[in-house]
Amino acid sequence: MAIPRSFIENLRMSCDIETTISSYVKLKRQGRNQVGLCPFHSEKTPSMVVYGDTQSFYCFGCGAGGDVISFIMRIENLDYVEAVKLLAQRVGMTVPEGEAEDRLSRIKPVILEINRLTARFYHKILRSPEGREGYAYFAGRGLTPQTMVKYGLGYAPPGWSTLRDYLRSQGFSTEQMYDAGVVSRGREGSYYDAFRNRVIFPIIDLRKNVIGFGGRVLDDSKPKYLNTNDTPVFKKSRNLFSMNFAKNHAEKRLILAEGYMDVIAVNQAGFENVVATLGTALTPEQARLMAGYTKEVVIAYDSDGAGRKATDRAVGLLEEVGITAKILALKGAKDPDEYLKKFGAQRFKLLLEDAGSVTAYQLSVIRAKYDLETPEGKSGYLTEAVRYLATLKNPVEREVFAGELAGQTGVLRETVLSNISFEVRKNYRRDKKKEWDNISSSRSLYGDRINPQRAANLKASLAEEGILCFLFKNPDHLGKILAQIGEGDFVTDFNRGLFKQMAAMIQAGGAPALSDFAETLSPEQMGRLSEIVNREMPMSEEVLDDYIRALRDAPLQNISQRAGELSGDALLNVVERLRQKKKEPGTADDR
Ligand code: UTP
Ligand code: MN
Repeated sequence: MAIPRSFIENLRMSCDIETTISSYVKLKRQGRNQVGLCPFHSEKTPSMVVYGDTQSFYCFGCGAGGDVISFIMRIENLDYVEAVKLLAQRVGMTVPEGEAEDRLSRIKPVILEINRLTARFYHKILRSPEGREGYAYFAGRGLTPQTMVKYGLGYAPPGWSTLRDYLRSQGFSTEQMYDAGVVSRGREGSYYDAFRNRVIFPIIDLRKNVIGFGGRVLDDSKPKYLNTNDTPVFKKSRNLFSMNFAKNHAEKRLILAEGYMDVIAVNQAGFENVVATLGTALTPEQARLMAGYTKEVVIAYDSDGAGRKATDRAVGLLEEVGITAKILALKGAKDPDEYLKKFGAQRFKLLLEDAGSVTAYQLSVIRAKYDLETPEGKSGYLTEAVRYLATLKNPVEREVFAGELAGQTGVLRETVLSNISFEVRKNYRRDKKKEWDNISSSRSLYGDRINPQRAANLKASLAEEGILCFLFKNPDHLGKILAQIGEGDFVTDFNRGLFKQMAAMIQAGGAPALSDFAETLSPEQMGRLSEIVNREMPMSEEVLDDYIRALRDAPLQNISQRAGELSGDALLNVVERLRQKKKEPGTADDR
């Protein structure tokens, strides 16, 4: 990595982390920091914090963190040098070229040239007697000669070195072919054609470069499709098949299909705005790529179980990048390709115009499972539909579909609605509990380096953290808290330290801010503090009182084990508390 340090420093200063991250993730200000939904794992409540002061970020859910370059590496799926280059390009800086840089910039054009020649080679074979089988395959699936030309489709003959021999005659080395992924390497170090006896789908990027290939068998053998592995010019997770055609289309929404053949069939039927992923499930990068072109995507996946699962996943990813997903209800066909063959382009067009909202689609899937003519069927449908509607974020949408559900089942709308809100509350409690369990279990599992006393004193720690969280958000309650407990009541040293600092800050006048701790805390400790004060809890005095009581009673429960660890002050405190407790037996912890 021959990029000079001074350049990196400069780049970091030019690329503010808040600005950079907020172009990917919606950030909300929280004190001096910003928080947002972490793009590196799936979550519903934000757990990624962006610290402007230290120009860093940290996710409490998955532990991702680092500076602006680490962020770009992860989110754009780039290596270090590529990430630096991308950032530099955005702010108009030029990366000084080093040696590693040289090799990569030399190999890329070679790979692109190999790919271009390979695509032409296979395409020519498809249209020659040698490619009869491949041609017959495509023709049998309804593709016209024009479509085969348009997509540059090809055929790779069964031989082990057809392509290798050809490319060698063009002056390329086997290593270069291997770098491009068009030949594979055997265990004994021999090289052979990666695609044999397969029809070939070249993958073309927006600049019309051939960046990779998909190859399908002609029969039912496995694997059905082979795709080029990632190479210096190709990242499966960042490209979409046929985007080179779709991007020029007048219609601003995209159709997302499952694979090569669906895309080509839909395109041939006159709908150019169709794309597919490349042998993987939809990725966040692909969702963002689409978001650059459109605000609406019609998902046209297979109507089978796997397709439905993939649909659910795609909907989530698309919504996260602000795309409205619609779902095509393929009735009477397993995929768009078959639908077009059976019913034609006109019907498909109607189907597209009719594409329903995700909610309508999910309800229809549920509805199909029950016989609404019987009371049992009706109540089964109602129960499952209510449970589903309760997962919707938008209350207006819940109401609308509650009305629909009421109409279908003849149950009062109010009844449906109250059932939904019951489920909503239940889900909320369950989610919170899950988050909580995750937090505590991930700590005890790996050992808690930040607060090592936590695992052995979980109940007390939770109480301490509850108090810290409450105090952080309600600094005016410091007096009330101090009237009941002091720092000596804190069981874990780390939390005690936080409490001490927070109290001192409030006493010095002012609300505490996370960044005020930055000087004395390490980044990991900062992370923990931020996690604690970001916990969601009901901000009522009852809750605070519960925590205070739990903390005051905590040492009484295992005093004999821990007496040796307590500081003199803390020990005195406990003894005093024990004495008082004997006088008022009514206050014992009765749980
Ligand atoms: P399908 O098995 O549904 O293929 O996988 P398909 O598109 O219907 O294929 P045809 O119509 O039989 O030709 C959907 C997509 O998943 C990827 C391919 O991109 C395929 O188009 N896939 C599937 C693979 O990459 N490898 C496989 O072995 C199977
Ligand atoms: Mn299919």
